[in-house]
Amino acid sequence: MAPVSPKILYNHCYGKYAIAAVNVFTMEQVHGLFAAAQETATPIIVQLTPAARNYAHPKMLMAMIEAAAKIYPKTMFAVHLDHGVEEHIYDAINNQYTSVMIDASHDDFANNIKRTKAVVEKAHPKNIVVEAELGVLSGVEDDLNIDEMHARYTNPEQAKEFVERSGCDSLAVAVGTSHGAYKFGVGKGLQFEVLRKIQEELPNYPLVLHGSSSVNKKEIAEINQYGGKLLENASGVTDEELKRAINHGICKVNIATDLRLLWAKVHRKFFYEQPEAFDPAMPGKEYMKAYKEFMAERFEVLGSKGKVSSINLN
Ligand code: 13P
Repeated sequence: MAPVSPKILYNHCYGKYAIAAVNVFTMEQVHGLFAAAQETATPIIVQLTPAARNYAHPKMLMAMIEAAAKIYPKTMFAVHLDHGVEEHIYDAINNQYTSVMIDASHDDFANNIKRTKAVVEKAHPKNIVVEAELGVLSGVEDDLNIDEMHARYTNPEQAKEFVERSGCDSLAVAVGTSHGAYKFGVGKGLQFEVLRKIQEELPNYPLVLHGSSSVNKKEIAEINQYGGKLLENASGVTDEELKRAINHGICKVNIATDLRLLWAKVHRKFFYEQPEAFDPAMPGKEYMKAYKEFMAERFEVLGSKGKVSSINLN
């Protein structure tokens, strides 16, 4: 299947389920994600960050996705640039992405609108949808590191004005999550009152939740059991929070950290149990299998499992 527009997916899922938007860096991750999506007939968004492009090369990433589309031909997927700036966005627009994010959330309100609108004007004629962000998430996202002190929730009235003036197709909102494995250092969880007000201002408009990994405690304990040194207070978004957020207009749920933790667990355990081993294909195979199982379980939680057949692409 060719990549689809997330707009079609959002129209279908709004208020009922959410699309998993998953960051990929490696061949094993691309296999795991596409295999899970095809086997469970689940629509997905494959996301590439500037850091992934820097690590693997943009051409390598796109070649892997094109190959996966052939190996798993029934997978319904969109290709999205996550946390883009103009340089990557204009390259992505000309290179088979169906969606881009302009992250000008650290700019002031007027400048965020101006930069988002400029991207919208270039992307829309090519049928590419634009995600923007208003409010600032705390935590770590690849090479982004935002001081927790400067974390700001999205202002609901500003959100409406922002969408109207910029013309963006979906909005990433800051409602208490952060990127990485230590989301709720301040112990608050998702801010449903803020999310409810945003939905009130922007009814039927697709909202995006960044920092949606679940950061399973058992996984953290296992990583540490096999030599890791992650902090025990690592925490993520609960399944109940994700389900509630869907009722409030969250259509796209961004996941990256969970698959990194899974990578660390599989590889640490593998080499701990088989210290004589050195073949990357051996733990690689285990990672792909564990990845596929993990994603299938996430699709179930998000309610997106099995939805491919009911989505009309015409
Ligand atoms: P996590 O760090 O919770 O996986 O969030 C990823 C993300 O939001 C990517 O944009």
